[in-house]
Amino acid sequence: MISEPANATLRKNIHVSDSAAKAAVAIARKISNAIKQHQLIGKTFRLGLATGATPVPLYKELIKLYQQGDVNFKNVHTYNLDEYDEISFDNPNSYHGFMRENLFDHINIPLEQTHFPSGDDPAAYDREIASVGGLDLLILGIGSNGHIAFNEPGSEKDSPSRLIELDASTIADNKQYFPDGDMPTRAITMGLKTILDTKTLVLMAWGDSKASIIAESLSCTPSADLPASFLQDHPNTLYFLDHGSASKLS
Ligand code: F6R
Repeated sequence: MISEPANATLRKNIHVSDSAAKAAVAIARKISNAIKQHQLIGKTFRLGLATGATPVPLYKELIKLYQQGDVNFKNVHTYNLDEYDEISFDNPNSYHGFMRENLFDHINIPLEQTHFPSGDDPAAYDREIASVGGLDLLILGIGSNGHIAFNEPGSEKDSPSRLIELDASTIADNKQYFPDGDMPTRAITMGLKTILDTKTLVLMAWGDSKASIIAESLSCTPSADLPASFLQDHPNTLYFLDHGSASKLS
């Protein structure tokens, strides 16, 4: 299937790179410039972060920029998209553990400036983020079923941060990370409302396995059946793809 992105603005915001590593250089540069601009005017930069395989090249690049002295994170607060329910944060497969291993332990961000949704009162995350004026930039991956964060199909565009049952397809995709078979089947996710209230969204997707869902999410009428399709209506969503994930776009 060859799909047309729905409109010209969307098309302008689609960046296709030769590789995830090359795209990561461009995105890391964009983030570090934004951090520095906020530093110059004494402002906090609020950065939303994803986990999973997709953002790993970007995190490597951000660590590199930090080690080269090109950026520092002292004025940054991070807000992760999600966390599994009832998982110990010491578990390396928890998203707390993932973030420490892949980013936080390698840069100068104080851990008290890193935020995650909590199962105790998930909607408190929305209030906390709204009270500081929303997120400046948010990194997203896309699930094979079109979820963003863990907003599974059926999630409405005004959905709050909440506890959610993971789709069978999400469990199938992620159970490889839990070889002991102890993968949680519920998670706490940032809701679509807070995601869509973010100033700049950066959706990344790499490889042929993401080609169909990327093409569909850019060409279908936005609906809860495919939560990533709501990004079409956001005024500033940037899509960073490689040739594989872009292969079903015309
Ligand atoms: C994780 C998240 C998810 C992933 C998506 C893709 O924090 O928000 O929506 O981005 O499941 O996962 P990967 O990158 O492993 O293909």
